Amino acid sequence: MRILLLIHGFNSLSQRIFVELKAAGYDVSIEFDINDALTREAVDLFQPDVILAPYLKRAIPDDLWQNHLCLILHPGITGDRGPAALDWAILRGDEHWGVTVLQAEAEMDAGPIWATREFSMRGTTKSSLYRREVADAGLAAIFEALEKLENGTKPTALNYDDPGVKGELRPSVTQKERTIDWAADTTETILAKVRASDGVPGVKEGDYFLYDAHLASGLTGAVGEIIATSGPAVCRATLDGAVWIGHMRSREGQHRFKLPATMLLAPEVPEVPLDSEGGYREISYREVGDVGYLRFNFYNGAMSTPQINRLLSAYRKACKQPTKIIVLEGGDDFWSNGIHLNIIESASSAADESWLNINTMDNLSEEIIRTRSHLTVAAMGANAGAGGVFLARACDYVWLINTIIMNPHYKDMGNLYGSEFWTYLLPRYCGAENSARIAEQRLPMGAVEAVELGLADAAFSDNRTDFDRETALRAAALATGFSQLVGAKNQRRDADEAIKPLTQYRTEELKKMRRNFFGFDPSYHVARYNFVHKVCKSRTPVTLAKHRDRRKMERKAS
Ligand code: COA
Repeated sequence: MRILLLIHGFNSLSQRIFVELKAAGYDVSIEFDINDALTREAVDLFQPDVILAPYLKRAIPDDLWQNHLCLILHPGITGDRGPAALDWAILRGDEHWGVTVLQAEAEMDAGPIWATREFSMRGTTKSSLYRREVADAGLAAIFEALEKLENGTKPTALNYDDPGVKGELRPSVTQKERTIDWAADTTETILAKVRASDGVPGVKEGDYFLYDAHLASGLTGAVGEIIATSGPAVCRATLDGAVWIGHMRSREGQHRFKLPATMLLAPEVPEVPLDSEGGYREISYREVGDVGYLRFNFYNGAMSTPQINRLLSAYRKACKQPTKIIVLEGGDDFWSNGIHLNIIESASSAADESWLNINTMDNLSEEIIRTRSHLTVAAMGANAGAGGVFLARACDYVWLINTIIMNPHYKDMGNLYGSEFWTYLLPRYCGAENSARIAEQRLPMGAVEAVELGLADAAFSDNRTDFDRETALRAAALATGFSQLVGAKNQRRDADEAIKPLTQYRTEELKKMRRNFFGFDPSYHVARYNFVHKVCKSRTPVTLAKHRDRRKMERKAS
């Protein structure tokens, strides 16, 4: 069956749908919803059996849904309609929510229903719910809808008289509903408002938009005032406590993108140490038996120079402990997305900051690869992209949650060459043929393919709780065979070093990166600018829109 994914952006939800539909044997192509003429052209070229829209910002043109089966993945329970389904669910504090696969018709979100799924809400951001609960439930519903389509089962018409239909038509959420009333809102309400607005659009306040809110335990002060800072975050007192605001976006000026709040405001207030018990926490370490767990929960998985330096110090400290295994856990929503493109964009010299950032990243990768005292594990319970994927492969073992999406490529960032020792790690773990395939294809990858190609060693568990539990069991098991395993690893490293020293890989990679940053071709700087400023794509890349790749389509037809 041919499925055309019609999407506004190739975000993690649509990436996961793309990966899983392809793995299930469907013929999938992608078209960005740029304008109606291009969409019609894509349909003509690909001749899909189904048009599937998992993430759209506007209605599908009438002639398309009238002539083709168009399925919409709506992030709301049965009967829910409107453009801000999840935002409302978070704002209301719903304990359960759901997704619905419905057929596009004249009235938005009111077409016949093909499948639904419900899930328990987590006290987290809208984007985090999208990446986990909505993606898990959405995929289950999509597969059910496709199965019904294949066996001829008809969808059910939406009927508000049915007592099972609990949803309703809701308008979009405006800044009026999002705005914080510091004098009246409780901490819980403030957290809900920022979480419902995280990703896009943020909570408007004065000259800024607010993001990344967390409970600040044990702090109090004059309501609405900034009473402390901690690393990137400022602490604002509420009626019944306080909240950390980690990131903000300026509405004016040159840098209208998300940055650490303390880069935008410089209040003269006491500082609570970063990562301390009562502060804003990014890096934490704990031990269980022979296993040390290092967690680095960096906002959006982006790693700036100072963040990596702190992680490197924490890693060195972990290596000095009398443990046997170090598990690098990444964060709640991302394992790592590589160097921090927003901080780089805001620097007075983006080239210099890029250079500093990638060198620091290499310091960390190198330290992990050269570790002789411990076995290292990258436990990837959340997605990773670009340098973040190769940083993980620096570990001796890479374990993935089954639902992961990885983007092991740099080229989409203006043909960036990439570093983090990928030229050593890919051939070492994946072999020459697979390395070339991974380096060339600019597509997201799921767990099965990553393990098949050697980019990871194992994949297990469908949810984070089970993944963490299973990781702990596997790490403890590794510790029992430690002496032999660490001996073999060090021998292998010595042999590799004798063939070609790590410093040589590093020098060669960084030479190419220097050219990307300081050379005459500005592609990386342009791509980074577009990424950070969220400039909409003007066409769908041929890597995704295979219907626009003449060679592929001709090969298929012959
Ligand atoms: N630096 C700064 N911000 C980053 C980032 C990075 N390296 N990677 C992701 N982000 C931000 C995004 O801008 C987005 O911000 P938002 O909260 O304003 O929406 C957020 O993280 C989530 O990213 P998004 O692209 O929506 O997530 P995704 O899961 O759909 O896609 C990636 C993940 C990795 C494919 C995509 O974010 C990406 O291409 N990142 C750039 C990776 C890169 O090139 N790194 C530099 C080279 S090492």
